[in-house]
Amino acid sequence: MIKKKILAISGSTRERSTNLSLIYAIKELSKEVFEIEVFNEIAGLPQFNPDHDIDPAPQKIFGFRKLLKEADGVLICTPEYAMGVPGTLKNAIDWTVSSAEFSKKPVALITASSMGEKAHTSLLETLKIIEGNITGDTQLLISFAKTKINSDTVITDKETLEQVKKLIKAFSKLINHE
Ligand SMILES: Cc1cc2nc3c(=O)[nH]c(=O)nc-3n(C[C@H](O)[C@H](O)[C@H](O)COP(=O)(O)O)c2cc1C
Repeated sequence: MIKKKILAISGSTRERSTNLSLIYAIKELSKEVFEIEVFNEIAGLPQFNPDHDIDPAPQKIFGFRKLLKEADGVLICTPEYAMGVPGTLKNAIDWTVSSAEFSKKPVALITASSMGEKAHTSLLETLKIIEGNITGDTQLLISFAKTKINSDTVITDKETLEQVKKLIKAFSKLINHE
């Protein structure tokens, strides 16, 4: 079976981020079906400005869009900041509105945070408007995330591990049109 290419984005740019750790845990858990590339340059993308959203796009944006285009699916793992989506992640997504890389693209979203409901709901709204292909089974809210995932890429909470495994299966099915 040919492995599907997944571009993974962490909404946290912290070095010892729980969300980044979660991405690496998923990379290991899904290694038979997915080839996960971690895009860890969202903090280096320019600030979105419609005046700069022209052809040719800024170089870093061109690269980001190319990676999104080439991916079979996108995995987003993010915390919530101040009851919303972290600015760096929202900035990255805003660059894709006009170029539509998310349109029909299979997406898995995990919000792993202390609470996270607001960011999760907000991101679902954003993904809906940019036509990301996300289902109820490819999204997951993990509250109290720091007690469930450690910084050594291990999901320590049994129930969370099962939920993540279920999400991987559903994401693979979505990508493979099963
Ligand atoms: C500036 C700031 C604001 C935060 N606001 C929220 C919040 O509104 N809701 C929440 O669930 N967690 C909030 N948190 C906690 C983080 O989401 C939490 O620590 C999360 O696990 C961090 O993810 P990371 O380990 O991937 O960086 C906030 C953290 C920071 C630094």
